[in-house]
Amino acid sequence: MQIPDTLIERMRTARRVAVLTGAGVSAESGVPTFRDAQTGLWARYDPAELASPDAFRANPKLVWQWYAYRRALVEAAAPNPGHLALADLERRIEDFTLITQNVDGLHRRAGSQNVVELHGNLFRYRCFHCAAPVELTIAPQDAPPPCPQCGGLVRPDVVWFGEWLPSQAWQTAVAAAERCELFLCIGTSGVVRPAADLPLIARSSGAYAVEINIAPGALDDRLDLHLYAPSGQLLPALMTAAFGDAAR
Ligand code: OAD
Repeated sequence: MQIPDTLIERMRTARRVAVLTGAGVSAESGVPTFRDAQTGLWARYDPAELASPDAFRANPKLVWQWYAYRRALVEAAAPNPGHLALADLERRIEDFTLITQNVDGLHRRAGSQNVVELHGNLFRYRCFHCAAPVELTIAPQDAPPPCPQCGGLVRPDVVWFGEWLPSQAWQTAVAAAERCELFLCIGTSGVVRPAADLPLIARSSGAYAVEINIAPGALDDRLDLHLYAPSGQLLPALMTAAFGDAAR
């Protein structure tokens, strides 16, 4: 794919860069996106109906098992060249923030450091009742364990539909979007707010905003540039175009 010179030049010269990633970045690692059809045992469930406080209240065991399944998928997966390219980009930019909606931890495993997890992390836990963080060295597969503080049920420390984003993470993300010169929005459908507002906040604050996705979606025509290709291919190509063969 032809990468426009204007993007290559901006990659080379920008001192402040913010990136927003979604499930598409992990698709090439074999982690299904939210809007992909699920497979196997979980094929008959809609992920959106499992990821809510009401679903957990109604059937904590089912929701816990769904997250145990997703953790196992992620544990068996590895960061792909798209994750690695973003970790490399961070090492070249003075002020770099990677904002992710992903809960899989693959950015950190790829070496990214300044990661803002807007929707939490699959491998952290807290109490559904008293909200205390809970350490689980080995998470049970079958059912949520009791909270050591209050006896309530332990849940994954992720943001569910109908819940607020962690406020510190959101403020950090907005500040990064407002001050960056270049904003890359990668592998997200752009339909889940408020995360989907970030590229628009960046653009209205003066950044050059770019979408990378395999297909047009909700952000189509709303940013400065839209590139349609798999991020695991396009990001390494972009790094090589901007920084030469040493980029990996
Ligand atoms: P989605 O599953 O909504 O969208 C994934 C996006 O990635 C789609 O736009 C795909 O076209 C794109 N895509 C797929 N493969 C790709 C690839 N190889 N390279 C580039 N793009 C690719 O996932 P998110 O946008 O992350 O929230 O979803 C946002 C939030 O909605 C999630 O964090 C989750 C979800 O429901 C909560 O759980 C609160």
